[in-house]
Amino acid sequence: MTTTLKTAGFHHITMVSKDARRTLDFYGNLLGLGLVKKTVNFDDPGAYHLYFGDDGGRPGTILTFFEWPNAGKGHWGVGGVHHLALGVATPEAQLKWKRRLTDAGVKVTGPLDRGYFKSLYFADPDGQVLEIATAGPGYTVDESAEMLGNELLVPPSERMPEGRDEATIAALTHPEPVGEVTPDMRLQGIHHISAITNDLTAAGDFYEEALGLDLVKKTYNQDDGKTKHYFWAAYESGIVAPHSAMTLFGWEGSDYMARQGTGQTHHVAFRAADRGQQDAWRDHLVGMGLNVSPVMDRSYFESIYFRAPDGLLCEIATDGPGFGVDEAIEELGEGLMLPAWLEPRRDEIEHALVALP
Ligand SMILES: [Fe+2]
Ligand SMILES: [Fe+2]
Repeated sequence: MTTTLKTAGFHHITMVSKDARRTLDFYGNLLGLGLVKKTVNFDDPGAYHLYFGDDGGRPGTILTFFEWPNAGKGHWGVGGVHHLALGVATPEAQLKWKRRLTDAGVKVTGPLDRGYFKSLYFADPDGQVLEIATAGPGYTVDESAEMLGNELLVPPSERMPEGRDEATIAALTHPEPVGEVTPDMRLQGIHHISAITNDLTAAGDFYEEALGLDLVKKTYNQDDGKTKHYFWAAYESGIVAPHSAMTLFGWEGSDYMARQGTGQTHHVAFRAADRGQQDAWRDHLVGMGLNVSPVMDRSYFESIYFRAPDGLLCEIATDGPGFGVDEAIEELGEGLMLPAWLEPRRDEIEHALVALP
């Protein structure tokens, strides 16, 4: 069954942090992302909800964090996200990131040549695995643009662990310290999100039928050579849309489930153009037999929630109205913003929260 509803890609990803100040320092100061909204979790107003993104917070560039100071540590597994990759323009800029992160005491692995892009790996202070991936060369290095995802491709041995010169890779870095995030280093939002499933076929059917994504690459995990690694994305006329690649590691039959908590992704949100499309989407998902939440007003977008067959919590969020709805675009992230129905409790809420710089 096919659907005419096709998402343009990711809207945002929401992760769990133990300490909002530490998260703000890491993503804001070290990674140079803009804070586009400082608010509270609408379902739990005693806790911060921080939004990072590019200027204005365009869909596809948004990373959000629930602060859960009392939560236990999460872990990836089936039904969870393994890592979040952020885009960078060039391999040279990627090396500057390696130098900047290493000098800040962050353990960095790579850059590894994945064929389609180069990848640098590290973790945030909560343990969320992050990657910085180069924009190119792209998915057409081993298949034509029109035929993406048609064949199961075995990566060449030089990209596998046994073919890599680990010492040379470890030594590769930018020659000078990188004290500030220069314009060439600017992180370009969500490059891909890699999750873990225990049924690649069921998960693939879900992403295709529920969200209208297309299978654009079938290959193997290049760190073990045997786990299947499939990529889905918004793909039209031979072009893979930016901010749209959902990749899955296939742990067939595994019962090693993801554990919710700090350092784990809470949910992944995909884009709907507007409320009308979202209503149609909700009907479509319900028609597929999925358990879908009512439409929730999140001030900056409207949301519905449902789960992938492996348990991953997914959301569809509207592009609008956007983050300018309660703050001027040039002042995004400066004030603590509350929805109208929480404004009467502002004093109480502000007193309960640790002030952020
Ligand atoms: Fe990745
Ligand atoms: Fe969300």
